[in-house]
Amino acid sequence: MAVKKVLRYKDYEFFWEKGDLHTHLGVLKEKNIQKAKDKAKTSKGVIFKVFEPRFTDLVRAMQRGPQMPFLKDVAIITFYSGITNESLVVDAGSGSGLLAISLARIAKKVVSYERDKRFFGLAKKNSALFGLKNITFKNKDIYNGIGENKIDLVVLDLPEPWKAVKRASKKLKVGGCLCAYLPNINQTEKLVKTASKQGFGLAKTVEIIEREWVVDEKRLRPSHKMYGHTAFLTFMRKL
Ligand SMILES: C[S@@+](CC[C@H](N)C(=O)[O-])C[C@H]1O[C@@H](n2cnc3c(N)ncnc32)[C@H](O)[C@@H]1O
Repeated sequence: MAVKKVLRYKDYEFFWEKGDLHTHLGVLKEKNIQKAKDKAKTSKGVIFKVFEPRFTDLVRAMQRGPQMPFLKDVAIITFYSGITNESLVVDAGSGSGLLAISLARIAKKVVSYERDKRFFGLAKKNSALFGLKNITFKNKDIYNGIGENKIDLVVLDLPEPWKAVKRASKKLKVGGCLCAYLPNINQTEKLVKTASKQGFGLAKTVEIIEREWVVDEKRLRPSHKMYGHTAFLTFMRKL
């Protein structure tokens, strides 16, 4: 699906590509959606707000596969890894493709490895939503090799990243970044110990806590719901 418009009414959200949109709040005719500047009325008289899709809208439209990284963590990876529009990035595993897609908005080129054929297909399908031309997905196990050279960033969002460290060390530029997204601190410790013996240093491990607040006419307080722990993010440099 190529999302062309996002339609919202209160907490309801719909992604539109083409044709009439049938909702429990009434039908929106294709021609009304096409010509809408910012609003469109359904057959039941409900007025939807109409938007051009932005990055975060498209993320909500993505089909879910394996656990996707949280956006708060993705944001920090794109910043602390230091990538620019000249960077070559290698990512694994692709999963649903969110991390690869997010990195491709900044980097020159992203190559994403996924060993499971189902998720390789899913990541490719999801990336088509964003119309990015600078991502290549490979249906390969990254523990068996990295084909790219002079890499600026290797990001590993898989259970045993230490198994890819030796190969990453050979293929990263000096000063390049190794990043791992890991739920457990014992995994993080094993990664840092292994990578320290393979030419990496300057390790930095962070955990990002995001607390949302409710701010409206009646309320001014933190939300009752909050994501607890998601992951430890580790960044190391090839020395
Ligand atoms: C947590 S998900 C990754 C989520 C992904 N970063 C995203 O943005 O949606 C982990 C993925 O790594 C894949 N994987 C695990 N080991 C792998 C390996 N050695 N090489 C390539 N992919 C691997 C799994 O099949 C799974 O799809």
